[in-house]
Amino acid sequence: MELTYSDYLHLDELLDLQQPLSDPPEHDETLFIVVHQAYELWFKLLLHELEKIKADFVANRLYPAISTFKRARTIMKVMVEQVDIVETLTPMSFASFRDRLDKASGFQSVQFRELEFALGYKRADMLKYQRPGTPSYAQLERRLREPSVVDAFYTFLKQNGVTIPDELTRRDPTLPAIQNETVAEGVLTLYKTQPNMEILFELMTDFDEGLQEWRYRHIKLVERSIGSKRGTGGSLGVEFLKKSLFSPVFPDLWAIRHRL
Ligand code: HEM
Repeated sequence: MELTYSDYLHLDELLDLQQPLSDPPEHDETLFIVVHQAYELWFKLLLHELEKIKADFVANRLYPAISTFKRARTIMKVMVEQVDIVETLTPMSFASFRDRLDKASGFQSVQFRELEFALGYKRADMLKYQRPGTPSYAQLERRLREPSVVDAFYTFLKQNGVTIPDELTRRDPTLPAIQNETVAEGVLTLYKTQPNMEILFELMTDFDEGLQEWRYRHIKLVERSIGSKRGTGGSLGVEFLKKSLFSPVFPDLWAIRHRL
């Protein structure tokens, strides 16, 4: 039998996955489910692209890394824009089905944590919000221990003449990436002497800024939907989210802006 569009995309299964819990039905719950599922798909694609970026960096492939960062940056922009759709949900409408969520929250999104870990923003204590023994727990634990995009970036920079201090190459991979003066100095030199590197660094900065934009938009979304209520995931809500708001994933690229 000929392969159809629907077969290839497994549409029967995909379109059967939106199952509102409200009884009687609440019109807006469908939007809430579809948007979160769409985000999870973007997270999946981003993780896939970041794996390629890591491999490109390690193999010193500049142009493939540039084109993949361009894609990752563009996905990030779409993710930021999608918040507009969720903001069409009014606080009262959200309140009408919020109880159905019980303790479920984006806080428990394994793929979002994977993204943070893959990028080098590692917070081992986030594992305690996942269920041990599940495949997703094992997956997140693996991400915690494996080298991040920042580690691969160091390998790339080293191959392009930047000194990477031993304390960075030998560091415990489960700890978050930190800003380093020697690395920043090397990045600055490449920025000023190699236009193709400048393209890469600007795309990485776009991506980084995009993630911070997403965090900001999400916080405002939370504020306008639930104000100072605690999150369904049990955190302090807005206060908890603000802690990550201005944390860049590529701190060395931000440290040198005033010297460019
Ligand atoms: C009405 C809409 C939303 C509300 C009220 C809301 C609320 C919250 C709150 C309060 C938290 C803090 C953790 C907790 O639950 O205690 C949180 C975390 C989170 N939410 Fe949302 N959220 C909304 C929409 C979304 C959407 C559309 C996404 C897309 C995937 C999302 C993804 C996340 C993620 C990834 C976290 C963890 C962030 C971090 O740890 O920095 N949320 N959300």
